[in-house]
Amino acid sequence: MIRRSYPVLTAEEAVSIIQNGDTVSFSGFSPAGAAKAVPRAIAERAIAEHAKGRPFRLRVLTGASSGQSVDGELAQAEAIAWRAPYMGEAALRKRINAEDVEYVDIHLSHLPQLIAFGFLGKIDVAVIEATEITSDGRVFLTTSIGASPTYLEQARKVIIEINSRQSKRLREMADIFRVPRPPHRSPIPIFDPLSKIGWPYATVDPEKVIGIVENNEADLLGDFPEPDGASLQIAGHIVRFLVDEMRSSRIPENFLPLQAGVGSLSNGVMAALGQAPEIPAFKMYTEVFQDSQVDLMEEGRLLGASACALTVSGRQLDRIVDNMDFFAERIVLRPQEISNHPGIIRRLGVIAMNTALEADIYGNVNSTHICGIDIMNGIGGSGEFTRNGYLSIFMTPSIAKNGAISCIVPMCPHIDNNEHSVQVLVTEQGLADLRGLGPIQRAKRIINTCVHPMYRDYLNRYLETSRKGHIRHNLETCYELHRNLLATGSMLGKTM
Ligand code: COA
Repeated sequence: MIRRSYPVLTAEEAVSIIQNGDTVSFSGFSPAGAAKAVPRAIAERAIAEHAKGRPFRLRVLTGASSGQSVDGELAQAEAIAWRAPYMGEAALRKRINAEDVEYVDIHLSHLPQLIAFGFLGKIDVAVIEATEITSDGRVFLTTSIGASPTYLEQARKVIIEINSRQSKRLREMADIFRVPRPPHRSPIPIFDPLSKIGWPYATVDPEKVIGIVENNEADLLGDFPEPDGASLQIAGHIVRFLVDEMRSSRIPENFLPLQAGVGSLSNGVMAALGQAPEIPAFKMYTEVFQDSQVDLMEEGRLLGASACALTVSGRQLDRIVDNMDFFAERIVLRPQEISNHPGIIRRLGVIAMNTALEADIYGNVNSTHICGIDIMNGIGGSGEFTRNGYLSIFMTPSIAKNGAISCIVPMCPHIDNNEHSVQVLVTEQGLADLRGLGPIQRAKRIINTCVHPMYRDYLNRYLETSRKGHIRHNLETCYELHRNLLATGSMLGKTM
């Protein structure tokens, strides 16, 4: 076994190995566990190189979004040429939509295997936040696992950011299981969200580690806003629906694991749903563990959760760390190919609840592209949970921007999850159960249940006057609302 000690480097020394055009992979799944000191030093280096008239732009990989510390810093320094698999940062969004950065939006469970298969090219340098690296190459990760085990394995060179602020006890939640390449795969033995099948650490060849950079910065995560009226109404509809499903024996009495998507709506809906006395205490098999779930766990409503990141505010992280004896038994953090694994989601019977930007009258969902053109964040894990869930629910407020936008439209100009996978659509107006309905029945139910009254007549008229077929559409007018929005800033335009 190779054992070695690692030199302690300044961030500036460490980034001297990174060259223009390199592929650099960073830890971080949401801002949780993102590398911090090294990306900042890369940004400074890029700014200095650009000032000398020299190019310095990288291909950048992370687990998922990575917040200000990776995407924000590097986008502001114009240091990103290509980015995958997910992002959610305003500065980077702007550059992608200006066609300055190539962005590859990928199902998050696919990412590690695409890298292992060599489909995304070689990784030059991995920058991974950890609480410790041992002399034989065991790496104890911090608040996210994400794709870091893959990056440690696949990168040619590795920089470890040792974060002394993060608790060493976070390792008690980690369950790192490596999936071999086909054709050497066997069933993954997870039969409950809390099953543990791996190790508390990832591994790296010590020879590849060029050094350690010390850092004591917190994850840059703000507080979630309090749930608004629409979130509470949406949660109310979902609770009534799930209780009906239980009473009709379509959901077992001891319930099924829940998954909740990202964002403020989802966080708010989970908070409200967890407090509903009609829903029994439940477990989650989900991608990110968010603020509201800390409270639910302490209240005994959430019995356990599997995720790949602790995407919680500093306040909630302190509560977890201060009460680790309690939380470590109830939270398992996994690599993203396991937290979002289609086979496990299907086996456990996960009830998937994700958020749409808009849906069409047939139940196709767009979660990523405004007017089909500008990216918001990315598909994230919504595809793998929706396609494989026991029940697949999408939620969205019926209108955005005070009614200038209807979130139900005749045809989505971009589709992330389609009518074949989406079973339930819910807005604050109501919940449309689409199971077993043909396209015209789906359209009538969505229009009459989910659409805001401002847009109901328009959508009914669209359905009645469109060309008849298995699915009715009018290819002249199906994007009229989007054209109005682009032309006038409101879907109401002049035609309503
Ligand atoms: N057209 C244009 N803009 C719209 C819109 C529409 N149909 N619907 C909402 N918006 C705007 C909102 O007004 C808001 O604008 P603002 O930032 O200027 O206020 C913005 O889009 C975000 O909406 P908000 O309601 O705050 O979103 P959210 O925090 O609930 O997140 C998604 C919603 C869809 C962006 C988010 O869930 C996402 O990125 N999903 C894809 C990834 C995913 O599902 N992951 C799950 C992992 S398991």
